[in-house]
Amino acid sequence: MDTHLRIAGLPLPHDSALKHGTGDAKFLDDLPEPAGLLHAALALSGVAHGHLRALDLAAARAIPGIVAILTAADIPGRNDIAPTFHDEKLFAEDLVEHAGQPIAMVVATTREAALRAAAAIRPEIEKLTPILTIEAALAEERFLLPPMLLQTGDPAAALAAAPHRLHGEFRSGGQEHFYLEGQIALAIPGEDRDLVIHSSTQHPTEVQHIAARVLGLDHNRITVAVRRMGGAFGGKESNASWVAAAAALAACHTRRPVKLRLSRRADIAATGKRHPFLYRYDIGFDDQGRILALDALLAANGGHTPDLSGGVMMRAVTHALNACHVEHVRVRGVACKTNTVSNTAFRGFGGPQGVLLLEDAILRIAHALDITPERVRSRNFAGGKNPAETPYGQTLEGDLIRRVWAEAERNSDFHRRRADIETFNATHPYLRRGLGSFVLAFGVSFGLPHLNQAGALVHVYADGSIRLNHGGTEMGQGLFIKIAQVVAEVFAVDIDRIAMSATSTGEVPNTSPTAASTGSDLNGWAAHAAASAVRTRMADTAAAHWDVPPETIRFDSGQIFPGRDGDNRRLDFAELAHLCIHQRVSLSATGYYKTPDLHWDGAAMRGHPFFYFSYGAAVAEVAVDTHTGEYRVLRADLVQDCGRSLNPAIDRGQIEGAFVQGLGWLTCEELWWDVEGRLRTLGPSTYKLPGSRDIPIMNIDLLDAAPARVPTIFRSKAVGEPPLMLATAVWNALKHATGTLDLDLPATPERVLAACAKRIVL
Ligand code: MTE
Ligand code: HPA
Ligand code: MOS
Repeated sequence: MDTHLRIAGLPLPHDSALKHGTGDAKFLDDLPEPAGLLHAALALSGVAHGHLRALDLAAARAIPGIVAILTAADIPGRNDIAPTFHDEKLFAEDLVEHAGQPIAMVVATTREAALRAAAAIRPEIEKLTPILTIEAALAEERFLLPPMLLQTGDPAAALAAAPHRLHGEFRSGGQEHFYLEGQIALAIPGEDRDLVIHSSTQHPTEVQHIAARVLGLDHNRITVAVRRMGGAFGGKESNASWVAAAAALAACHTRRPVKLRLSRRADIAATGKRHPFLYRYDIGFDDQGRILALDALLAANGGHTPDLSGGVMMRAVTHALNACHVEHVRVRGVACKTNTVSNTAFRGFGGPQGVLLLEDAILRIAHALDITPERVRSRNFAGGKNPAETPYGQTLEGDLIRRVWAEAERNSDFHRRRADIETFNATHPYLRRGLGSFVLAFGVSFGLPHLNQAGALVHVYADGSIRLNHGGTEMGQGLFIKIAQVVAEVFAVDIDRIAMSATSTGEVPNTSPTAASTGSDLNGWAAHAAASAVRTRMADTAAAHWDVPPETIRFDSGQIFPGRDGDNRRLDFAELAHLCIHQRVSLSATGYYKTPDLHWDGAAMRGHPFFYFSYGAAVAEVAVDTHTGEYRVLRADLVQDCGRSLNPAIDRGQIEGAFVQGLGWLTCEELWWDVEGRLRTLGPSTYKLPGSRDIPIMNIDLLDAAPARVPTIFRSKAVGEPPLMLATAVWNALKHATGTLDLDLPATPERVLAACAKRIVL
């Protein structure tokens, strides 16, 4: 099966590429609006922490077009939108826990009226002191979840005995998803208590569950559909659910269709972001740079509710050693409770935060020993002469770690450029260039084993056309084309024969979110199973028709052959489909897949949580103006292991996009709260996203001849999140250029300028 692929593996363009360009791709807000549509808008708290004493609705009610104003008191089911735990409120009740928290919702005949009325609602809030920083929450031990502890060996003794020791402390920032299409949902009540919800969500099933919980309905009353999102990046994994539940509440209350489209400001104020982290660690090492022991604290700002912070911390903690092996380890992970918006999934899901830890340490060790960071990192790579086991008990592939790095080193002409840069820096009066590198091992699978499952539904029609549906959602990442390629491969037909259809809880139920980069791994196998079931029935029908053994039936280029030498009978795929229907053979099948061999003991922090690892390596070059702190990323050489890529064109796009998104997180994107805990970066004028001119020259290389070693679909590997972390090389390059080891993230020009002032090395 694996050797002769024809359609899987082709660099086909994204199925909607042209439509994205022409504007013909329909996003939720482009759908025809149902008759009687109402619009909803949210009233948000302007206070970070306090008791909600009263709501003055008089001014809001006076605005023409207002149909209803709803609060927690109007919720017929439970005021609970928690994705994993309990007691996370859709609308604040007595306590307000962050500025931007929804307090009430206005439903009106026009969106403008709803927005105006929402802004006119005057909540009376008795202020309490907000806890706004990780440090403040740590001091009071305000945690959202029990601390996590990953421990192996005897770190205290090994630290004490180490020839060298050092302490490090630094911070990484949050990140706003800034999907092009903001959060939006359209809820349409039907007969009886039925409800259809169109939602821009990565997780239609969770929208169904949370809307049902809020409304007190059975799941079978609610159908959730999404054709595509205009970007999600983790921001529509749990946050889309409460937006949709709010629209559903309004629709049920008014018995009319309701659309809730958050304004950009409301979206940024009310929805979660990447978790900012604080890192403190002690590390012990020998004269050669071998790391002997690590004792680290990773503290995340989780915001006011747990949301997905448990999973994010699990990934951060399990990725703290990244591609390296250390024998004696203690990593503590705490999710701090603060009065900020509840932080959530963001591309990498704690992995990007986790892998920063050792990079910070590697540069400090390199400086202490006067060797290069690359020497220190390679010396500690898992595998080779070092053990390959992670502290939680899984094994890394040391050969792939070394291969991606060797390829990045070669492609980037690393040693020559490093020498050139030293010469340049020694002679230029104020510009400093820097070269940084990074190597990644990222675990692929949801950290929670039960989420690693998927379903699909395939129909073949009488004319031989195929309709494909699966539980995965399309957010621009190219999932639909990849899964269509898998199905085209199974039937040996052209890709054009396959129609992709919107994700719907009515077609494939009980799904997991499209997240953790597992979309094509999970749905690819599920669709393969569904298509194979239909194909088998078609083959049996052809075999009976020709009176030959079913094993001899061949599908090739849209035709079916008996497969014996000299037998030149054949059926067109459509003829065989027609024959099957005539013979009363079902041409429809569901497919199901669950990732094998996963287990995780969360209390012991031991197990086999990831099906496999994705490897990558990067080299980045920067130039810094030491007078102003301004800098440019000049070039990035990236190597990413995509296994045997299902679609190298899509994968390249994912690598480019992820790298630039990582670059934004680490350099220019800065969330800024005022002293009262109000986020003041509520739009692109104050929140600096990377623009086209911030993108460096990128040389992207998919690791050659590297089929996955576990049975993934056609031996491909996930690509959605891992390359985001390759941007870590830019942080290292900036440290090299500025000559400092202390550079908190995001490394904005201000921080870079401050770093230049503290330069200690070159
Ligand atoms: N690519 C685009 N264009 N838009 C997105 O929203 N989300 C990323 C990644 N790539 C995203 C994207 C995230 S966070 C994940 S987990 C994966 O896509 C999810 O899709 P996959 O599992 O099919 O790769
Ligand atoms: N990644 C992304 N989303 C998730 C995960 C994960 O590992 N676990 C639960 N939701
Ligand atoms: Mo991606 S953060 O797993 O949605």
